[in-house]
Amino acid sequence: MKTKSAEETRAAGAALGKTLKKGAVVLLTGEFGSGKTTFVQGLAKGLGVKDLRAVCSPTFVMMNVYAGRVPLFHLDATRLADPREVFGLGWEERGSGVTAVEWGERIEGVVEPGAIRVALALVSETERSIRISPVKPPRTR
Ligand SMILES: Nc1ncnc2c1ncn2[C@@H]1O[C@H](COP(=O)(O)OP(=O)(O)O)[C@@H](O)[C@H]1O
Ligand SMILES: [Mg+2]
Repeated sequence: MKTKSAEETRAAGAALGKTLKKGAVVLLTGEFGSGKTTFVQGLAKGLGVKDLRAVCSPTFVMMNVYAGRVPLFHLDATRLADPREVFGLGWEERGSGVTAVEWGERIEGVVEPGAIRVALALVSETERSIRISPVKPPRTR
């Protein structure tokens, strides 16, 4: 799909957020400015998080937690020296809420099957393309 504003991207995130159950893992991919954090603001809305201003990039803290109908764990994988370090970031809590990971392609190879990939891409200054698909299991051969 294509969105024409940050608000539309938030709406797409909210629509997905409404459908997610505890334990859901969402891996967001896309370059800087493609709208990963904006999409997560929508996810938060769809999960019933009240104060959306609090939803901001977790680049420096590596994980934010927001209280909604289930907690939303918001992570950023950019600074991990090794993808498996994600398991040290409260990963064992993920079953109790929904986990959204920016720069999620960095950890695709280490997370269990069943994650959802949200691939964002810049189209123009105000347009973004968004593709939502299951993460394919890694090839075994
Ligand atoms: N269609 C759109 N969808 C998402 N963000 C958009 C859109 N159009 C413009 N923007 C702007 O692009 C920026 C996206 O930033 P952000 O969500 O922080 O990206 P990322 O987390 O991928 O670096 C925001 O400033 C947002 O307002
Ligand atoms: Mg971001």
